[in-house]
Amino acid sequence: MGATEGPAQAAGFPPEVEALVHPTGVQNGVMRADPDACTSCGRCIQNCPYTCWEMGEDQVPKMRPERTCFSCFNCMVACEAGAISIVQPYEVRGGGYFDTDFPPIRWPLAPLDAAGNPSEWTGTERLIIERRSVRNLKQDPVPEPLIRRILEAGRFAPSGGNNQPWKFAVVTDSAFIAELEATIQAVWAGDHFALEDDAVAASLVGVLPNEVFDPRVRQGLRSTALKELPVFLNAPCVTFIGGNTKMALPVIEAGICGQNMNLAACALGLGFTWSNFGAVGVERVPELKAKLGFDSTWTVLAALCIGYPSFKQEGAVPRHYRPVTWFRPGAAGPEIEE
Ligand SMILES: Cc1cc2nc3c(=O)[nH]c(=O)nc-3n(C[C@H](O)[C@H](O)[C@H](O)COP(=O)(O)O)c2cc1C
Repeated sequence: MGATEGPAQAAGFPPEVEALVHPTGVQNGVMRADPDACTSCGRCIQNCPYTCWEMGEDQVPKMRPERTCFSCFNCMVACEAGAISIVQPYEVRGGGYFDTDFPPIRWPLAPLDAAGNPSEWTGTERLIIERRSVRNLKQDPVPEPLIRRILEAGRFAPSGGNNQPWKFAVVTDSAFIAELEATIQAVWAGDHFALEDDAVAASLVGVLPNEVFDPRVRQGLRSTALKELPVFLNAPCVTFIGGNTKMALPVIEAGICGQNMNLAACALGLGFTWSNFGAVGVERVPELKAKLGFDSTWTVLAALCIGYPSFKQEGAVPRHYRPVTWFRPGAAGPEIEE
């Protein structure tokens, strides 16, 4: 389960193309199921967005080395037995294009009160820390009164100049969700199979945004193309946020709005996952965008998949801890806290 290095310059592409088509220094995440604690329930397998796990012959899940584990740790939070541990987080080293100076991961720091004494998380902080993307959803409909509360959480988000540059479309009609799923899945499958061909991939460098070549995105495309990761996660409710193109920074404002909605959904006991594959996919199919009620003054910026979780998928996980630069009164200069 070592680093996934690209074949060294095999295709003879220019270095800036090679760097994207065959990213170097990528170390996939590695997780381990403890055979003594594992109950073989399979939740880790079920809760991995990229199907990185499979059941071993000994009925203990093991990782599939060909898959890109990007260290969301959703396998860990779904394991009631506490059998899953981290061997190695996803990171990229060696100065390749996707080496973004990966910092170490750390668990949430213990909360302290204003005087620096041990304290408790507030309910809001606990919700933020224990929120995880929930991709295993029941088919039960989300009651409309609750959808309206989620929309209200979005409507009361802050925005620059109070410009409120958002507009929502809520889809609970399963036939329409199925149409969205089929159409958009086909779009991404086309991209995936095109990118599988190195020559085609190389020809698309500079045409597609560079981030499409990030191994984590490529695995997302692969999983979507293979129908292992549904675009809308089989959610009974999909809500889209449009951002008005005439206003400043609708992307950040739709993000704030959507995160308000995410937390409100969690507080109401609902599961929630953002879907870029859904939002960007709608943007690529003008008929669907129009059908959802967004004309050219709107960009579909977010798709939110909402439903009741079919099992426990929340809990704290470690995250990157990038050094923070502090400027404190009386200090000789900035202090960098590792
Ligand atoms: C803007 C945005 C877009 C996302 N798009 C997708 C997506 O298309 N499919 C998916 O399964 N997860 C998607 N996610 C979920 C991320 O994979 C997830 O937030 C990340 O792995 C961290 O895991 P956590 O949410 O459980 O903490 C998206 C998240 C955000 C914020």
